[in-house]
Order: sequence, then structure tokens, then C-alpha cells
Amino acid sequence: MDKKIENFKKALGNYPTGVTVVTAYNENNEPMGLTVNSFASVSLDPLLILWSIDKRVGTYDEFLKVDRFSVNILASDQAELCNLFASRVPDRFGQCEWEKSSLELPVLKDTLATLQCKVHNRVEAGDHTIMIGEVLEIDNSDKTPLLYHNRTIGAIPETFYTKA
Ligand SMILES: Cc1cc2nc3c(=O)[nH]c(=O)nc-3n(C[C@H](O)[C@H](O)[C@H](O)COP(=O)(O)O)c2cc1C
Repeated sequence: MDKKIENFKKALGNYPTGVTVVTAYNENNEPMGLTVNSFASVSLDPLLILWSIDKRVGTYDEFLKVDRFSVNILASDQAELCNLFASRVPDRFGQCEWEKSSLELPVLKDTLATLQCKVHNRVEAGDHTIMIGEVLEIDNSDKTPLLYHNRTIGAIPETFYTKA
């Protein structure tokens, strides 16, 4: 692998993130979703968030056509959902608990938080497209987050909460 790409992957892999699953309905009203850690906050006025989708993702063309999506922020007890939505399993929604929301979006159950969004704009960026969403509805819980670091997922260790 090119040394610069290797260094890029190492630096970015060392940057810890949370884990989300972004979900939406395609044109045939079938739920689709993928594991995403490129999620970030963008703006407070209006409320905007972003995530980016790799052009090689199987549902890329379908995601580019949606006008709404939901960002399901995973809780520390939902590592299986991270793996399921990054896997080759064809029927991901047959293997998890989800429901259709009042805004008619597929949302995963028992997550840390859910942000239901309408597409604000899309920005092509290299081999990804950045999806910017305006947040329409927010659901929070008291759960703790699932974290991703160096290809490893897990909960925040207890020591993190202990002040020196
Ligand atoms: C922790 C983690 C984070 C990921 N983040 C992203 C992301 O931000 N954008 C993306 O396009 N793919 C991301 N992926 C990869 C997709 O989840 C994966 O390529 C996708 O589910 C494959 O779908 P497909 O089988 O339909 O092509 C991530 C995977 C993992 C495990």
C-alpha cells in the first residue's frame, strides 16, 4: 500500500469515534442501512449533521435518491448491530429490532439516540459523497455509547470516568 495512504489510515484509525447505523427507505419502500462512523455535528442554526458514504457501498445509488434518513447512534450493548450493518448479510433488517417511525423512516430500537433527518445537501468528495442532513426529530436515552478505535469496538472503560 502507498505509504501516505497507510499513514492516513493509521492517523484516522487512531481517532476514536462513536458508531452509528444510517437507515432509510429505498424507492421500493424497503429498509436499507449501513454502519457509519463518519457522522459529525455541523451546525446549530439550522440543526445540521453529516456523514459520508463510500461510492462502492451496494446501496450507494439508492442512498443518493433518498430525501430523508435516520442516524441511529449505537449504545455500548449494540456491537452486533455494528457488525450486522457492515456485513454481507442480505436481510439485515430481518436480524434486528426496528420499527417505522412517525416520520415514516426505519429506526433501530434501543439505541443511544436517534436523529431523523431530511437531506439538506450532498457534496461529492473523492470516492465518497458527503450527506448533510437537517435534523427533524431527536430521541435520546440514558444509555452509554459504543466506541470505535483501531478496528476495535467497545464500551468506554470505567477508568475513563474516574477523575485523577
Ligand atoms: C465501524 C465502521 C464504520 C464505518 N463507517 C462507514 C462510513 O462512514 N461510510 C461508509 O460508506 N461506510 C462505512 N463503513 C463500511 C460500511 O458499513 C460497509 O461498507 C457497508 O455496510 C457495506 O454495505 P454493502 O454490503 O451494501 O456494500 C463502516 C464500517 C464499520 C465497521
